Amino acid sequence: MQIFLDTAEISEIEARAALIDGVTTNPSLIAKSGAGVMERVKEIAKTVSGPVSAEVVATDRDGMLEEGRKLRAIGDNVVVKLPLTAAGLEACRIFHEEGIATNVTLCFSLNQALMAAKAGATFISPFIGRLDDAGGDGVKLLEDIRAVYDQYGFETSILAASLRSLKHVEDAALTGSDAATLPVKIFDQLINHPQTDLGLDAFMADWKATGREGLV
Ligand code: E4P
Repeated sequence: MQIFLDTAEISEIEARAALIDGVTTNPSLIAKSGAGVMERVKEIAKTVSGPVSAEVVATDRDGMLEEGRKLRAIGDNVVVKLPLTAAGLEACRIFHEEGIATNVTLCFSLNQALMAAKAGATFISPFIGRLDDAGGDGVKLLEDIRAVYDQYGFETSILAASLRSLKHVEDAALTGSDAATLPVKIFDQLINHPQTDLGLDAFMADWKATGREGLV
């Protein structure tokens, strides 16, 4: 499963660049960073070699096509992020025919995921946490999309988004999601375990007690 960082903060990306497969952004994250969209996406696309999802802000098909092409011109690793609307899916189909990678975002149902796959989306982003918040079952949605995509042989990758906990990350992996995007707060907890810290402390203490240095 690919692990993406869900942020538009360069310092956060740089500090974790060696351990991530890509980055996702959205208009809220770019707005929070205070940077301009083009400027910030350029910086991110230079910092990581993997996919960088950058979202259009137009809501009509032609506006999305124009903005998407500008974003894509920044670099071959830029993935055009489109909202799951009729206009977004029309733009998605055109980008698919042009060989431009897309990430269809704000997916909350299996039918939406089905339509995105039929439009040739490269990634579909089901919003697990927001669906749970609204009384739905985000993990069940991941399972259902996996089953339907496998049943029909759709090549669209499932990118579990809006994850709120370590359990969500494990659920994304268990349901066979192709990728997951995580805020820094969750990403940083992925490799931590108290027993790892205790075990390492004990190994180091035992080694220090020998009085030897290095691998001797
Ligand atoms: C994904 O592409 C979105 O940027 C993100 O995961 C949304 O997460 P949120 O619901 O925590 O804002």
